[in-house]
Amino acid sequence: MKPTLPGPPASGPQPANLRRRLAFVAFGLSLAAFLLACTTLTRTVMVTPTIPGASFAGSSACAECHDDLVRNFATASHARLQARGPNAIEIGCESCHGPGDLHVQSGGDTTLIVNPHKSPEVCFACHLDVRGSFSLPHRHPVPEGHLTCTDCHDPHHGTGLRGGHTALLSQNEGCFECHAAQRGPHVFEHEALREGCTACHHPHGSVNAKLLTQRNATLCLQCHFQQQAPGGQVFIGGFNHTTFLQRGTCWNAGCHEAVHGSQVNSSLRF
Ligand code: HEC
Ligand code: HEC
Ligand code: HEC
Ligand code: HEC
Ligand code: HEC
Ligand code: HEC
Ligand code: HEC
Repeated sequence: MKPTLPGPPASGPQPANLRRRLAFVAFGLSLAAFLLACTTLTRTVMVTPTIPGASFAGSSACAECHDDLVRNFATASHARLQARGPNAIEIGCESCHGPGDLHVQSGGDTTLIVNPHKSPEVCFACHLDVRGSFSLPHRHPVPEGHLTCTDCHDPHHGTGLRGGHTALLSQNEGCFECHAAQRGPHVFEHEALREGCTACHHPHGSVNAKLLTQRNATLCLQCHFQQQAPGGQVFIGGFNHTTFLQRGTCWNAGCHEAVHGSQVNSSLRF
């Protein structure tokens, strides 16, 4: 990632007059830029949404009226974001919603704060690499608007991953909400799923079909040891796989096609 100039303002629905003013300020460019240097990402300068004439108020200023959101936010990664400068304040909320002092002073005028709604653009301003992933040929259809960052990430709470934050298995819960077929229960489970769906799938996007992290046997061999036997024979899981490996992927028809778990066969077949 490299330093960025302020991007266009949030593209979520905004009142026309605010949008006009935002355009005006974007024209005045770097003068109005609110740049953030993050302690965890030293190489990166990031950009929050801009609001004409507004300054950062700090997350604690939001607590007066959005008490529940601020309280839960204490554990969130974005809570650590700081504004730069000698009087640096903690601007977690405003990293996505823009500087909020005018919104605070007005008693909550919604035209003086940015609501990203379902748009990923506010997120992309800082997460450039994530924008890249969603440009790959196989991806969750976020750019198409069929699902949003907030379907999987809670912006206001915890590590940001929906569906559980402690046990590895519970990470899968977020995926099961839309992919019930992989949930089981299966008579013969594949223990790989305990490592999480991301053991095999990129959650955002991939060059490989089905969002797979690898397109061939390498995917499976990261956990299943491949033994070389005399005569060039290859054993996997104690079975002679020498001729199998040339026939295609491990999850080909006739092999381990029930890769998420099987109801009938311990070798993960249908
Ligand atoms: C004085 C009370 C008050 C304070 C302080 C306050 N807000 Fe609000 N905020 C409101 C009210 C009232 C609404 C409108 C709620 C509604 O329409 O349901 C609102 C709405 C919002 C919305 C939604 C806007 C929309 O278009 O739907 C966001 C985002 C927001 N506030 C963020 C913040 C942030 C960030 C802070 C701290 C910088 C903050 N607020 C501080 C009162 C406040
Ligand atoms: C990582 C970005 C991000 C951060 C940080 C963040 N928000 Fe939000 N907020 C969002 C998004 C995205 C939405 C819209 C959610 C949706 O429509 O699904 C939202 C919606 C809201 C709303 C509208 C009501 C609601 O719950 O949908 C309020 C109010 C709000 N945020 C306040 C806050 C406050 C206060 C903080 C700090 C404690 C904060 N936000 C931190 C991204 C963020
Ligand atoms: C102003 C910049 C900024 C914006 C805007 C922003 N983020 Fe972040 N985000 C960060 C930083 C900095 C981190 C911390 C990175 C780290 O610790 O390595 C982070 C971390 C995260 C993480 C990882 C959390 C973890 O604990 O590993 C997720 C998920 C995330 N952001 C999602 C979002 C989403 C979704 C949005 C839009 C709703 C968004 N971010 C908007 C700067 C931003
Ligand atoms: C289908 C669910 C899903 C969607 C949609 C999604 N994410 Fe993620 N995201 C994840 C999962 C799962 C992880 C954790 C990956 C891991 O642990 O290997 C993650 C990790 C991250 C991280 C931290 C690691 C990294 O790759 O930098 C950031 C930042 C992030 N997501 C931002 C976003 C943003 C921004 C969007 C919207 C443009 C988005 N995500 C949409 C599921 C999703
Ligand atoms: C909010 C709903 C939603 C959530 C949550 C979700 N997905 Fe998806 N997923 C989709 C949609 C929509 C598609 C695109 C389906 C299509 O194009 O037919 C998709 C596609 C996929 C595909 C590719 C399927 C194919 O046939 O090419 C995989 C793999 C996948 N998701 C895995 C995951 C994983 C892993 C998670 C959890 C990190 C997850 N999904 C969370 C909605 C979701
Ligand atoms: C051991 C590796 C592995 C793990 C772990 C894994 N998957 Fe998959 N997944 C695959 C493979 C391989 C395919 C491609 C199957 C095919 O093309 O027939 C696939 C395909 C998919 C598809 C596309 C539909 C289909 O069956 O072809 C979805 C959706 C999916 N996985 C979701 C998930 C979810 C949700 C999780 C976590 C609960 C998960 N996967 C965990 C390997 C894995
Ligand atoms: C994250 C690690 C991991 C990955 C990746 C993984 N597996 Fe597994 N798999 C396991 C574990 C652990 C077991 C249970 C212990 C054992 O039998 O080795 C298992 C068991 C199996 C079994 C049942 C063995 C038996 O006879 O009981 C088959 C078949 C299998 N995996 C196939 C695959 C295939 C095909 C892939 C690639 C799509 C794959 N595995 C990827 C961890 C993994």
